[in-house]
Amino acid sequence: MIGRKNMGRVSPFLLVLLGFGFFIGTYNLLTLVMHKGSSSVKEEGLYDPIVRRPDGVSGETGAKFHVALTATDAPYSKWQCRIMYYWYKKMRDVLGSDMGGFTRVLHSGNPDNLMDEIPTVVVDPLPEGLDRGYIVLNRPWAFVQWLEKATIEEEYILMAEPDHIFVNPLPNLAHGDHPSAFPFFYIKPSDHEKVIRKYYPEELGPVTNVDPIGNSPVIIKKSTLEKIAPTWMNVSLRMKDDPETDKAFGWVLEMYGYAVASALHGVRHILRKDFMLQPPWDLEIGNKFIIHYTYGCDYNMKGELTYGKIGEWRFDKRSHLNGPPPRNLSLPPPGVPESVVRLVKAVNEATANIPNWDTL
Ligand SMILES: *[C@@H]1O[C@H](CO)[C@@H](O)[C@H](O)[C@H]1NC(C)=O
Ligand SMILES: *[C@@H]1O[C@H](CO)[C@@H](O)[C@H](O)[C@H]1NC(C)=O
Repeated sequence: MIGRKNMGRVSPFLLVLLGFGFFIGTYNLLTLVMHKGSSSVKEEGLYDPIVRRPDGVSGETGAKFHVALTATDAPYSKWQCRIMYYWYKKMRDVLGSDMGGFTRVLHSGNPDNLMDEIPTVVVDPLPEGLDRGYIVLNRPWAFVQWLEKATIEEEYILMAEPDHIFVNPLPNLAHGDHPSAFPFFYIKPSDHEKVIRKYYPEELGPVTNVDPIGNSPVIIKKSTLEKIAPTWMNVSLRMKDDPETDKAFGWVLEMYGYAVASALHGVRHILRKDFMLQPPWDLEIGNKFIIHYTYGCDYNMKGELTYGKIGEWRFDKRSHLNGPPPRNLSLPPPGVPESVVRLVKAVNEATANIPNWDTL
C-alpha cells in the first residue's frame, strides 16, 4: 500500500490526517464519557468507588446460571414476580446472557395461583414465631430446602428478588469459585466491628473479610451456596435473637447474615457495581444489568426529585401493597432521569403482555 503512488484520488497524507482526526474525536468522546461517569459517582456520593477483584482473576466464566427468585404468595410479591419473570424470559435469549433456568422459590408453604405461569418450587416458611415478624429471615431457610430438594441443571445460581428487572442480558459475573455480588453502600461491616465480632471471631481475620453485600444479587457456584446457606440461616437467626445486633442492623440484618456466613466459609465476592442500578439515585442504565426498584421515585412536574415527599408524579412499589399496579402507568414528566423512565416503560411493557394482569 505504502509503495503505491496514489490511492485512487486520496492522498495518503489526507488518510493519515483523517485517521488522526478520528482518533482525537474518539479520544475526546471517551474522555467525556469517563469524566461524566466519574463525576456522577462523586455527585451521588453513595457508593464506594472501588471495585475489588481477587488477584489474578479475569475473564468471565460463561457457564450458565439458574435464576432463583425467593418470594411469598402475598399480592405485593406476586405482581413483582410476574414482571420479573417477564423480563427474565425476554433477556434470557439475548446474546451475552448466560441465564439458564428459572425457579420461583415460594416460601409460604402452599402453592398459589401463579404455579402455571412461573416455574415454582414450594418450600416451608420458618416454624411459627421463629422469624419474629421479620419475613426475610425465611430466605436462607428457603434456599436450604430448595437446594436439598431440587435438581438444578446449572452449576451456578443467581439469587434474585421480585423487585429486580433485567435491563441488559446478564452474563455469568462469577469467576470460577469466586462469586460476584453488588456492593451496597449501606452495608458497612467495619462500622459494626463489635457486633460483627460476635459472629466472626478475631482469629478468622479482619472484619474487612466480611463483604459489603447481601445475598442478592449474587451469582455463586451451587456447591458454594450449599455450604453457605445453612450457616447463613443459623447466623441470621442468632443475630435476630441478639437485641444488640437486631438494633444495630435493623431491616438489613439478614444481609449481614449472608455477608458474615460467606466470610465464615472463607468466601470473598467480586464486587460489581454494574450488577444493578437503583433509581432514582442512579440516573442511567448504561451497561448495568438489573434495575432494583426498591426506592420510591417522586418528582414534581418540572422533573425535579422530591424524595421523601410525595411527588406530583410518582412510582413507588409500596403504593401497590395489596394488588398489582394498573396497566399503562403514566410516564414521568420531562426532565426525569432515564433510569426512572426506563423502569416505568419496563413495568408497562410487562403488564401489557402478561395475560390476566389485573385479574389473577
Ligand atoms: C447454630 O449453630 C450453633 C453452632 O453450630 C448451634 O449451637 C446453634 O444451636 C445453631 N443455632 C440455630 C438457631 O440453629
Ligand atoms: C396509555 O395511556 C396514554 C395516556 O397516558 C394513552 O394515550 C394511551 O393510549 C394508553 N395506551 C394504552 C395501550 O392503553
